[in-house]
Amino acid sequence: MNYTNLLIEVDADNILTLTINRPQALNALNRLTIQELEDFFTKAYKNYEQVSGIIITGAGEKAFVAGADIKEFLELDGDGGAQLAQKGQNVFFSIENFHKPVIALVNGFALGGGCELAMSCHMRVATENAKFGQPEVNLGLIPGYGGTQRLIQYIGKGKAMELLMTADMIGAAEAHTHGLVNHVTPAGEGMGKAKEILKKISTKGPVAISKIIETVNAYFDKNQDGFAREVVEFGHTTRTQDFVEGATAFVEKRRADFKGN
Ligand code: CAA
Repeated sequence: MNYTNLLIEVDADNILTLTINRPQALNALNRLTIQELEDFFTKAYKNYEQVSGIIITGAGEKAFVAGADIKEFLELDGDGGAQLAQKGQNVFFSIENFHKPVIALVNGFALGGGCELAMSCHMRVATENAKFGQPEVNLGLIPGYGGTQRLIQYIGKGKAMELLMTADMIGAAEAHTHGLVNHVTPAGEGMGKAKEILKKISTKGPVAISKIIETVNAYFDKNQDGFAREVVEFGHTTRTQDFVEGATAFVEKRRADFKGN
């Protein structure tokens, strides 16, 4: 698959790395990049069904993603802003609800839409130079790709209000303290950590992993009862071949060989 602003690489362990590749603009999410992310997470991923998980990162040493592309904002008029936000939110929902684990490897600035992209992933690994923030108020804007909603989920309302209103950036260590990132690594070691997590997950039942994503997300979906969804999906997993294999392997004291059905 060839994209202009996304690089795709699949390694020998079947882990796919998606690199946002606009280092000259600190990987800012312009319309084309959002379009390409949408294409990947709604269509093109089907060409990579063998992969066990995805890592999203930014090209270069300075930024994960420094936000939506501010230069394109100057062209917005009429309802263009609301349409842009709706489109970005839809793309980030497709990442949040993706059926395989998605880890953000935050290797520098994750600001505005970049912080929002990282928050839409299932986990975040940050290198020590990472910086997180929602600086939209500096531009007289509010976040549009889910920042006001997801930041609260990770760091709580009080701290989220502070970061959203002051536009302050926080470093990797503070982001870790507040629960925004799962792990902090020295520069150059983030990819190894993200892959280590995905490799461990790849040994588990794939259907169960997809149901974990659905049921955890159900908690945050006002249209769903998460506990009721858990009952339904637990029932679903008990009817899978993966469960038969997992339980049999336990009894036979061997490693399960899951097929994902
Ligand atoms: N959009 C477009 N271009 C951007 C950009 C962005 N979000 N962030 C950086 N760039 C560009 C710069 O314009 C510059 O390009 P030129 O060389 O052509 O001038 C290049 O990337 C390098 O950036 P700087 O020279 O500014 O680098 P720096 O080290 O001095 O500063 C920075 C780094 C603090 C991250 C600074 O670039 C910055 O503040 N960027 C904007 C961050 C921001 O406000 N993000 C939120 C955007 S709004 C949003 O995301 C809304 C939403 O929720 C959807």
